[in-house]
Amino acid sequence: MKHWIEQPYSGYLRKHDMGPDVEITQVGPGTDGGEYLRRTWQPVALTEELLDLPLLVKLLGEELVLFRTTKGTLGLVEKHCSHRGASLEYGIATEEGIRCCYHGWHFAPDGTILETPNSPTNTNYKKFCHGAYPVKEFKGIIFTYMGPPDTVPDFPFLDTYEDYHDENSELVPYSLHYPCNWMQIAENTQDPVHSVFLHTSISGTQFDDSWGVMPVLDWVKTPIGMMNVNVRRWKDNVWLRTTESILPNYNQAGAFWERPDDEKAFQRVATTRFFRPIDDTHTHVMGWRFFNDSVDPDKNGDPTAVGKDKIDAVGQLDDREREEQQREPGDYEAIMSQGPIAIHERETWVDTDRGVGMMRKLVRDGIRAVRDGEAFTSLPAEVSGVVPTFTQDSVIERPLLDGYDDEKVIREYGKRYGEIVIESAKVKPEDRKAYLQAELDKLHIDKI
Ligand code: FES
Ligand SMILES: [Fe+2]
Repeated sequence: MKHWIEQPYSGYLRKHDMGPDVEITQVGPGTDGGEYLRRTWQPVALTEELLDLPLLVKLLGEELVLFRTTKGTLGLVEKHCSHRGASLEYGIATEEGIRCCYHGWHFAPDGTILETPNSPTNTNYKKFCHGAYPVKEFKGIIFTYMGPPDTVPDFPFLDTYEDYHDENSELVPYSLHYPCNWMQIAENTQDPVHSVFLHTSISGTQFDDSWGVMPVLDWVKTPIGMMNVNVRRWKDNVWLRTTESILPNYNQAGAFWERPDDEKAFQRVATTRFFRPIDDTHTHVMGWRFFNDSVDPDKNGDPTAVGKDKIDAVGQLDDREREEQQREPGDYEAIMSQGPIAIHERETWVDTDRGVGMMRKLVRDGIRAVRDGEAFTSLPAEVSGVVPTFTQDSVIERPLLDGYDDEKVIREYGKRYGEIVIESAKVKPEDRKAYLQAELDKLHIDKI
């Protein structure tokens, strides 16, 4: 008798009791996954979302209130007042902090209790603090660190935050809502083969026809996470693209509308983004779109279409009619339809899923390391005060060679260039492009 998995019409026979991979998908306080995510800075909200009223936010399963004092200092505090639990979203921002609406308790941005006016003679309150987290505002996004207060890491300044070759480069913040767990969104970025199908042959060209060429793929570790090296032959050119995941939950992606017709070296990112868990089954994809002549020379992008619940690319959020979503699905439809938390047990992997496997392993290893008391070690490598990162596009002219297996040739290009991109982290950020151009010029693989 055949195993049920080999039988046609096996719907009735299949297992229906499969559950999520709890270890790497939980985000709440006290969970192993939640502890892991609480070791780095996470985005809370866009600057544009916080007006004069306090803003109720949910992050890593915790409800918090974000506010700005009338002097301009930001605070992020526990939602429920330490007195008797009224929500501080109804509080009033003061010069020094926030005052609860119910009996007037007054809290500083760091949680210090400044006053308990419903008991003017009470001084006991000076002995304890309301829950609060440190906050940093950076280029239109407000970040926080929700880990142990005695080990607040430096805010990571990635080398992409400054464009060393184009002073007119613009970073536009955005925030998109996904009704699913953060891991399946992160995994999408280490699955570049979906660009051939979802973004080109299935839904029509959503970015550029060049995305429809089946890439030769590899995945490698970087000092701060991992990256895929996807290499494509495009006419007489070889296009070398890398896309990185920075642990635990950051990602950078290259040009959306890359057209690899011209030679180039180390063209940087079109987006830096954070898969910011709201809770186990909801996530904000928050980050910046980058606009400059390098990543978008044809001006396909539109900075005015980027912001809260909007971005200038199709299929990235729930902003279309149902019929259009079904006829031309994009990342949003593919990712959120995997379910509130994708069930790994029901997957059937092929060789191009190796990057997803690597991503899960790195996250699992990181979670276990934090659980076992080891220091969290992402983002340690700094050159000139910034963190070197690894997402880029390069294109070299290398016509097809008669008599050679072109797939093997371009695989070798990918392997060697991936190594060079990682090695280049030792170079000062402003010199890295020239360094990689020189290395590319030397890179000739004629025989395999
Ligand atoms: S509940 Fe906030 S002051 Fe009483
Ligand atoms: Fe995609």
